[in-house]
Amino acid sequence: MVALTLGSPAQTRRFARVLARLLRSPALVTIEGDLGTGKTTLVREILRACGVRGVVTSPSFTVAQSYRGRQGEALHHLDLYRLSRGADVDFFAWDDYLGEDALTFVEWPAAGSEALPAADVRLELLHRTTRSRGARLHAAAAFERAVAEGAAAEGIRMDEPVAGVPAPAAWRSPT
Ligand SMILES: Nc1ncnc2c1ncn2[C@@H]1O[C@H](COP(=O)(O)OP(=O)(O)OP(=O)(O)O)[C@@H](O)[C@H]1O
Ligand SMILES: [Mg+2]
Repeated sequence: MVALTLGSPAQTRRFARVLARLLRSPALVTIEGDLGTGKTTLVREILRACGVRGVVTSPSFTVAQSYRGRQGEALHHLDLYRLSRGADVDFFAWDDYLGEDALTFVEWPAAGSEALPAADVRLELLHRTTRSRGARLHAAAAFERAVAEGAAAEGIRMDEPVAGVPAPAAWRSPT
């Protein structure tokens, strides 16, 4: 697990760029967190960093939005908040959003837990202050390490040390 503090929307953008650089399709990324914690903001910034131009709207009403990245890769953004378990889940075209070349982001993944494969990257966002959010990332050890290194290089504060990743001097605790 990597635990970080995204101290401002600008830091969330930098964190998004780190993730965009490391994510390779096919991958499923779920984003959990209370209302307004920044799930859509984070995905929007990742999509932009992947080359999506124009408006990236929240798919909270449409459930899913699809884009193409810089190399033509399929990028899908789902929000399952309004999907109810049962018929909605059974009839939803999951396969359209989980292709071999697809990078898929899912906000509020709980409703789809029986239909979705295990996530490659699981993110949780937490409210801290009006401008600050906590982020927790669960992924394979090598990916977590790379995210921690990338975040440290961007000056993003790690809440817990990650083995082998030195803290940036700016926030290393005094000894
Ligand atoms: N550090 C931060 N990172 C991300 N968003 C932030 C931050 N600080 C403030 N915000 C603000 O918090 C809001 C997050 O809204 P957003 O729609 O992204 O949340 P959400 O988690 O997708 O909500 P919902 O559950 O309704 O889908 C935005 O208005 C954003 O500007
Ligand atoms: Mg949202």
